[in-house]
Amino acid sequence: MADTSPRLLNGPPQTSPWQRRLWGLRFLFHPLETLETRTQAYGDNYRVTPPDSKPALVYFSCPEALEAIFTAKPEQLSAGRGNQILKALLGEHGIVLLEGAAHQRQRQLLMPPFHGDRMRSYAQVIQEITNQTMSQWTIGTTFSVRPIMQSISLQVILQAVFGLESGQRYKQLQEALGKMLDGFGSPVGAMFLFYPFLQKDWGAWSPWGRFLRLRQQVNDLLYAEIADRRRQPDEGRTDILALLMAARDLEGQPLSDVELRDELITLLFAGHETTASALAWALYWVAYLPGVRTRLLAEINALDDNVEPMTIARLPYLSAICQETLRLYPIAISSFPRVVKQPIEVAGYALEPGTVIIPSIYLAHRRADVYPEPNQFRPERFLERQFSPYEYLPFGGGDRRCIGSAFALFEMKLVLFQLLSNFEMTLSSAKPIRPIRRGLTVAPSDRLRMKITGKRQLE
Ligand code: HEM
Repeated sequence: MADTSPRLLNGPPQTSPWQRRLWGLRFLFHPLETLETRTQAYGDNYRVTPPDSKPALVYFSCPEALEAIFTAKPEQLSAGRGNQILKALLGEHGIVLLEGAAHQRQRQLLMPPFHGDRMRSYAQVIQEITNQTMSQWTIGTTFSVRPIMQSISLQVILQAVFGLESGQRYKQLQEALGKMLDGFGSPVGAMFLFYPFLQKDWGAWSPWGRFLRLRQQVNDLLYAEIADRRRQPDEGRTDILALLMAARDLEGQPLSDVELRDELITLLFAGHETTASALAWALYWVAYLPGVRTRLLAEINALDDNVEPMTIARLPYLSAICQETLRLYPIAISSFPRVVKQPIEVAGYALEPGTVIIPSIYLAHRRADVYPEPNQFRPERFLERQFSPYEYLPFGGGDRRCIGSAFALFEMKLVLFQLLSNFEMTLSSAKPIRPIRRGLTVAPSDRLRMKITGKRQLE
């Protein structure tokens, strides 16, 4: 008779607290290498904590396990609880930290503005902001790619959230938010998120002190905007803040100022750095691989002038480049942690309550059985076959799947199209660019610089 008893996850033997801390640091500084080393040693599903340690921390990356995780019921797995690391940044009332019915309500509220017609109405904003950036370029200009992409994506999300306004407050918000996130832009900076004992205010020059002061600046600006809107309500506004302010809970109550601030900062934070890093990688691959560039330019050249944004969004090779960009170096290397609430079996492994599950996007995307030559950038693979949501998951999955996925892909395609239709650009250095940690994400390093070498004439 076949043995049907649950399997035990492989993982490190008994280790000392010091060894575990060392692994933690290694993961912080070299996240992708650490994931690869572990998966080589223990397989595609493994535990990180020693055998008897509670709560156990476990990684899964095989499609069967990811399906079980993403289709589990909310009573079995919860996600909000596992996101405490983000509390200092996002507060506790934003969608990321909410659970259960409150989380579902917030998702229903926030999904429509990032989809369908509402999303498409941002095309002009995206194109105008990209034009403003390009207007500063001449032949010979060199630029650091990720920060420029970040400036574009931050302006886009600010306009989506607050409407088509500009002015002092938006400029200040843009500056303070940028600086606040840049503080976590290196592995050393990220340590302050991962190790709460470092979160000490030693004055304005200390890293955490600086973060707290910038966060205060951002809060003041957001509260000032909320107060202005309350004083002068405008029924005609369709931006996301207006939508949030009009929303009522089951008891008919509106969101409080603190709830509004947490939701706004969540959207601004989740909605721009990720897209910027993805855009920077895509530009890198197009410049780095002549074959990819030639095929993309042929696709672009075949279009009429004044092509519609939706036509751009449907271009097959441009779409495949964006998909492959997010496969090879997913910006979020894992989904949010899921915490086991009721005993559950995942791919034959029995997990007890309290266990923390990390669905590994990076490892799932590097499976040779799903992606032949997984370390190669090859957009064609997305033209040759479709991948299931448990094989390809740059935006996570289940009831926590990214609400901005369609918006991010739309923005990526429009910006790439516009930059590449107007300029020829090359990499400033032929050296390959390595991914580095930026806070909770992984991004191309700021060594990624490009040079404008010519203006393009569309044929
Ligand atoms: C390339 C860009 C982006 C990537 C790679 C990305 C990736 C992700 C991932 C992996 C998750 C976690 C899903 C899970 O745990 O299963 C997530 C959640 C989320 N993302 Fe994105 N994201 C991107 C852009 C955006 C944009 C443009 C927005 C717009 C505001 C956004 C808003 C959110 C929000 C609010 C959540 C939390 C959803 C929830 O808790 O229910 N993201 N994203």
